Amino acid sequence: MRRQQLDIQLKTPDQIDRMRAAGLVVADALAKMRAAVAPGVSTAELDAIAEATIRDAGAVPSFKGYHGYPATICSSVNEQVVHAIPTSRQVLREGDIVSIDCGAVLDGWHGDAAFTAPVGEARPELLRMAAVAEDALWAGIAAATRGAATGRGRLTDISYAVERAIRAGGRYGIVEGYGGHGIGTEMHQDPHVLNYGRPGKGPRLVAGMALAIEPMITLGSPRTEELSDGWTVVTRDRSMAVHVEHSIALLPDGVWVLTEPDGGRARLGDLVTARQPAGAPR
Ligand code: MF3
Ligand code: CO
Repeated sequence: MRRQQLDIQLKTPDQIDRMRAAGLVVADALAKMRAAVAPGVSTAELDAIAEATIRDAGAVPSFKGYHGYPATICSSVNEQVVHAIPTSRQVLREGDIVSIDCGAVLDGWHGDAAFTAPVGEARPELLRMAAVAEDALWAGIAAATRGAATGRGRLTDISYAVERAIRAGGRYGIVEGYGGHGIGTEMHQDPHVLNYGRPGKGPRLVAGMALAIEPMITLGSPRTEELSDGWTVVTRDRSMAVHVEHSIALLPDGVWVLTEPDGGRARLGDLVTARQPAGAPR
């Protein structure tokens, strides 16, 4: 197989500081939405919270207008996997599970992240699936960090770590056809980051890379389909699905989880960079 020509934008430490600022705006929007998730709240209300937070910070919602996407967030409920458009008719109900994805661009630099939360009390198997997706996300981040630190890591080490963590968590469908991506002066850049696969392939992991890592898993089949709105991705078998995401940057001395307020410290400890100028917890 021919090696693909990838166009990977490596960032300077100064540029990564600017991405951190964008990441914190996204983190703030997500935190506000997380606090607002409750039975009776519409996904359009969550969207309004996100847009106001982003614009108040002097940033711009990056999803809005992206290939014609009409909103600030994607709010994917239950069998919706990703890219569901928020509406005032979609009202969250007790027991739902919702994945909310949000992106912002600040001074030309992008942040992109997603969380999954239960609405009120949800079935234990849904909570468990959300926890497994979250664990897989952090396993992928740790693999990226270690790979960059040794100088021998390759892109699919992340994919492999994500898959392993999912499989260790139980029997889940791992969604194909969607994945993570490079991020920087555009929301989506090379390389594509699959959530499964053999390790040791693809470009080397090096300082200066910024990636969005985003596991998507289901309680049933991994197969998905797009609804007639041209956006909403649902599981074919209509089984429940979740999606979580962080934007990260690899620095010479460790990772920076740009869309996590503590930079990833609580989950990763010493793997996190000592350099947190733009984003040291305030
Ligand atoms: N955040 C999504 C991703 O991680 C992109 C959202 S698609 C959009 O790739 F159209 F809503 F912008
Ligand atoms: Co993304």
